[in-house]
Amino acid sequence: MNAVRQIVFSAVLLFLTVDFSVAQNPLFIPPTLSGTSFDLNIQNGTTQFYPGINTPTYGINGALLGPTLIVNKGDWVTMNVTNNLTGAGNSTTIHWHGLHVPAMDDGGPHQIIEQGTTWSPDFQILNSAGTFWYHPHGDNKTDRHVSKGIAGMLIVKDSAEAELTLPRTYGVDDFPVIVQTKAFDILNQIAISTELDTAVCVNGTIRPYLNAQAQVIRLRLLNGSSSRSYNFGFTDNKSFKMIAGDAGLLDNAVSLTRILLSPGERAEIVLDLQGMTGQTINLISFSSEMPNGIYGAATVSGMMGGTIPNYNLNPLNGADFGVLQLNVVAPTVNPVTTMPGSLITNAPWTSYTVARNFNLQPDTMMSPLGQVAGPFNINGVHFDMNTINFSTYLNTTEKWKISNNTGIAHPFHIHDMHFYLLNINGGAVPDYEQGKKDVVLVMPMQYVEFITKFEDFADDMIPYMYHCHLLHHEDDGMMGSFTVIDTTSAGISTVEKTKFIIYPNPAQNFISIKFENQISSAELTIINLLGEIVLSSKINNINTARIDVASLTSGIYFFQIRAGNEFQQMKFIKQ
Ligand code: C2O
Ligand code: CU
Ligand code: CU
Repeated sequence: MNAVRQIVFSAVLLFLTVDFSVAQNPLFIPPTLSGTSFDLNIQNGTTQFYPGINTPTYGINGALLGPTLIVNKGDWVTMNVTNNLTGAGNSTTIHWHGLHVPAMDDGGPHQIIEQGTTWSPDFQILNSAGTFWYHPHGDNKTDRHVSKGIAGMLIVKDSAEAELTLPRTYGVDDFPVIVQTKAFDILNQIAISTELDTAVCVNGTIRPYLNAQAQVIRLRLLNGSSSRSYNFGFTDNKSFKMIAGDAGLLDNAVSLTRILLSPGERAEIVLDLQGMTGQTINLISFSSEMPNGIYGAATVSGMMGGTIPNYNLNPLNGADFGVLQLNVVAPTVNPVTTMPGSLITNAPWTSYTVARNFNLQPDTMMSPLGQVAGPFNINGVHFDMNTINFSTYLNTTEKWKISNNTGIAHPFHIHDMHFYLLNINGGAVPDYEQGKKDVVLVMPMQYVEFITKFEDFADDMIPYMYHCHLLHHEDDGMMGSFTVIDTTSAGISTVEKTKFIIYPNPAQNFISIKFENQISSAELTIINLLGEIVLSSKINNINTARIDVASLTSGIYFFQIRAGNEFQQMKFIKQ
């Protein structure tokens, strides 16, 4: 325990003192859902983070966070996501962070789930075994919705991983560790963007302990925080092996004593607790070791003296604090007793045909090196729902250079694809960062380069996102969008599992719909990119229909059809 600084702190905005020395709550292990059809009900709830104190929260199938979804590579899955949130302005989205899926199923800001409605994307799991997550991505409300509790883990299994000797029994020797810090105001409401996120939660549990068996265990670390990075390690610098990064297994397990995770990043680590029955070991964030500029370090200050207001009031910043206490108990039957060595063979792309530059920069270019508080943009522009920042072509391999021209480190994330790092500020990439990634922390005044390939999914109208994963930076517009275009397809588009076609597309005055089978009764709606219904009508006993769209302003729309539980949607352009 001596490595853990004990902190007692109070400030006007905090209603409780913070003392990390006593772990007193059993770690909550989210229940699992598996199979190929998942019902996810986003709802309001109440959580007691501290005994007797009720805090309004949001959760999925519960009051806080969501179930861990377990899927198999190759399976087709259907996600039925229902938005049952109450309160004004709570349309939302659910994004499958790290999954390689079609743009229309990605759950970015454009796949809006209105309150009281269900969104049912279906897609094939193409990712290899790894630890992913799902969270809201609504335009300008990601931080609020994630902070209030909407997020969950998603585990992909595959045959290559199954062949390895690794702990993989969920909740027994394989544990989800979703680390988030939260801020509470004096009314016990979860607050955002206060810099006073003093409550450290794992799976929503404050001051958690876990009874772990004296054997080899696996922890799936996910940084689900809004802003904070963690520099994870254990009591007495006990070493562990990292087996997977963001999006899958490494070539070889890497021995480490620290792993730095920025928001959105994941790491699967394996820890040997054999012979430790009766002992206690802590997962700690050694934040005192984090360099200036990383949110959570002692200082985030620009070269020309910029600061983040209230940053110094948070006792976690620059402190070494306990995250999860492991109480070691007797082993189970047939425990894993060996630490992993070689794992799989990754095949990073080696050449590329397109190079792109992304400059992370402050809105005010006056003393850019001093800017740490934002707002920030990418290449001079903020995210806009109706703009697509660039397009690429299906099967293009690209090198992206992400340059940070600010005083704060930004975790850069890309949807759809994973990438392999080529270099970090021109230097070598450490072993543990050589796997598939989808988030990379770019240090102040440095750059990283990575290589990626836009495979499998093209859509000439629905974009994917790239953005900073500090959620208030993202909400403030530090995000862009891109489409992946297939040069071989043109004209009429069809949904994945064709139930109808619409034509002409683009349309001027009318669109015609032709159904595969006769429709006895259905509701047709047309929504704009903001999710607003601009037209709706009911149809009965027909297999073709014609809709007057002359009055719509030009732009991209979604045509939706609902019949009972069935829901299909297709985009079209109004000229
Ligand atoms: Cu984890 Cu675009 O998000
Ligand atoms: Cu994502
Ligand atoms: Cu940022």
